[in-house]
Amino acid sequence: MNLYLPNSAQFHWVEGQLFCDAVPLKLLANKYGTPLYVYSYTAIQSAVDSYKSALKDTEHLLCYAMKANSNLAVVQIMAHLGTGFDIVSGGELARVIAAGGDPKKVIYSGVGKTVEEIEQALNADILCFNVESAQELERIIQIAKRMGRLARISFRVNPDVDPHTHPYISTGLKQNKFGVAYEEAVRLYLHAAEFPEAVKITGMDCHIGSQITTIEPFVDACKKMLDLADILKTKGIFLDHLDFGGGLGINYEEGDHAPSPSELVSALHAVMQERDYGDLTMVFEAGRSIIGNAGVLLTEVEYLKVGEEKNFCIVDAGMNDMIRPALYQSWMQVVPVTPREGEETVYDIVGPVCETGDWIGKDRSLNVEQGDFLAVLSAGAYGMTMSSHYNTRVKPPEIMVRGDHYQVIRERESMPKLFSSEVMLSKEF
Ligand code: LLP
Repeated sequence: MNLYLPNSAQFHWVEGQLFCDAVPLKLLANKYGTPLYVYSYTAIQSAVDSYKSALKDTEHLLCYAMKANSNLAVVQIMAHLGTGFDIVSGGELARVIAAGGDPKKVIYSGVGKTVEEIEQALNADILCFNVESAQELERIIQIAKRMGRLARISFRVNPDVDPHTHPYISTGLKQNKFGVAYEEAVRLYLHAAEFPEAVKITGMDCHIGSQITTIEPFVDACKKMLDLADILKTKGIFLDHLDFGGGLGINYEEGDHAPSPSELVSALHAVMQERDYGDLTMVFEAGRSIIGNAGVLLTEVEYLKVGEEKNFCIVDAGMNDMIRPALYQSWMQVVPVTPREGEETVYDIVGPVCETGDWIGKDRSLNVEQGDFLAVLSAGAYGMTMSSHYNTRVKPPEIMVRGDHYQVIRERESMPKLFSSEVMLSKEF
């Protein structure tokens, strides 16, 4: 049985049991039932601290990419730690405000911002819109003029850099829908500069993908952004910040060696200094590298099914609770919460959902019995936020642990609530 723990130091073995900080995970699984998400406050804090210390000698803004995990308590922790936020919807902005975050530290990314969302963001006086198309620029200009507001903007440029990650999470290639074409960027900046009463150009942005495990693609993208900044300078357009997006990978599997925030920051800052841009504010939109390894998904073994060609370990967490393996064939480490000694069997760990794609891990050697708890590690990012009600399954609860205490930060949904917004047809229909 492979008991490797890719998670932060906060998930660890104590006398043969998996703990989160000082709390045995078995205790939480018994108390709250499974499936269950558990996060470590301390792990989140130390991930934020590693960005902060990497950035301490430079002007910077660390924006937490909320799409990774937008539970209000998580957002509240980030607000408390002083981070800004990278949002992609009006809903995420509403969460920032509800959790006590500062809208003036909000960066708004996304290709499809609606009129209402732009109004909402201007009313909240957010820090910057990452503009992703010519039409979005026109829309922002119109709305800002009508509202008598000044929209701070940056263009998200598509540098056509391959981040060498799963195709579904590559975003900075020519064939991707994100950002404005590199060749078009200068023209758009010049056009935006014609409307100083509506928009103020503050930066340049690029986000090339997610779960990137080498530094080179970030450096290549940085160089391409600086080439554009050089041209803009000659036209009298000066930037305040460079936004490198998110995308820094984490360790999921034994042998993974994701770079640290400090390796990323120092490589980028060296390029900036070399090119005489050392004074620009560095912005990061980090999601997974902050919360990914700070969470686990606990699940219970419902059945062991011995097949002719495959053995199945059927657990109570499905693709509706954790879709990453189904969607991206992601490899996630799974360990028993209380490992047993003895003979192991090779299983596919699968969920209860009626889809062949509903799996969590394939060909895993385990010694487990019905009723055992398993922990799916590195589940803090893109776990709960991508969950659904497919197969009419309620979403799992979430617990935050800090030291030896813990708190429910999301209740398990109730079945009546799940369909409470649906309406039966009237008799007259
Ligand atoms: N900024 C922008 C504009 C983004 O689109 C994303 C992620 C981030 C920042 C944060 O990236 P991170 O630091 O978390 O890599 N669901 C996929 C990941 C999708 C990422 C989408 N965009 C997964 O589970 O692997």
